[in-house]
Amino acid sequence: MDFGFLKEYSQFFIDGTKITIMISLSTLILGFMIGTIVCLGRLSKVKIIKFISGAYIEFLRGTPLLIQLYIIYFGLPTLGIQFPSIGPITSDYIAAVIALSINSSAYIAEILRSGIQSIDKGQMEASRSLGLDYSTSMKHVIIPQALKNVLPALANEFIVLVKESSIASIIGIHDLMYSADTVKGSTYLAFEPLIVASIIYFVLTFSLSKLVGVFESKLGNSESK
Ligand code: ARG
Repeated sequence: MDFGFLKEYSQFFIDGTKITIMISLSTLILGFMIGTIVCLGRLSKVKIIKFISGAYIEFLRGTPLLIQLYIIYFGLPTLGIQFPSIGPITSDYIAAVIALSINSSAYIAEILRSGIQSIDKGQMEASRSLGLDYSTSMKHVIIPQALKNVLPALANEFIVLVKESSIASIIGIHDLMYSADTVKGSTYLAFEPLIVASIIYFVLTFSLSKLVGVFESKLGNSESK
C-alpha cells in the first residue's frame, strides 16, 4: 500500500470532510424542523392529520434513501420544480440536503414522539390544573423535558447522517466520499483513498459517539441529584 499520494491530495480530503460536516449539520437542523411538525401531526387528535403523518413516516422509513434522493434530484425537475442556487450553495447541494432532511425527519419525528410519550401523564395534568392551556403546557412543561430525554438519540441521528450523507456524492456533491472517488480516479489507486476516507468517517463518528456518551452520563447525573 502506498499513501504517498496524500502529500498532493490531502486538501481534497480536508475539503470533502468540511462538506460532509456541513451537509450533516444542515440536514440535522432542517430534519429537526420538519420532524417536529411531523411529530406534532402524529400526536394530533385530528384523525386525517395523524394518518398523513403516520403514512409520511412509514413511507420514508420503508423506501431506500437512494430512491428518495433520485426522486428529488431527477424526478422533481421533470415536474418543473427546480431548486435555486443561493450564492455559493448550489442547487444540487440543496437537493441533497432536502432529500436527506426529509428522510431524517421521519426518524426524528419518531424520536421526538417517543420523547414526548415518555413524559408522565401527570405532568400534563399538573400543568393543566395550574391553569395553563394545552399548548402552553406542551411548550413550557412537556417539550423541555422531552427534549432532554431525546438529546442522545438526536445526537445518534447526527452520527447516522454523517455516514448517510456519503450518498450525496452520487449526484456530484464534493463530500468526503466524492473526494475519495476523485483521488481514486486520479491516482489509479483503488484501495488507499477509500481507506483514508473510511478512517476520517470513523474518526468523526467515533468521536461524536464518545461525546454522546459523556453527554448521557452528565444528563444521568443531573437526573439522580
Ligand atoms: N440507508 C438507509 C436507507 O437507505 C437510510 C437510513 C437513514 N436513517 C436515519 N436514521 N436517518 O433507507
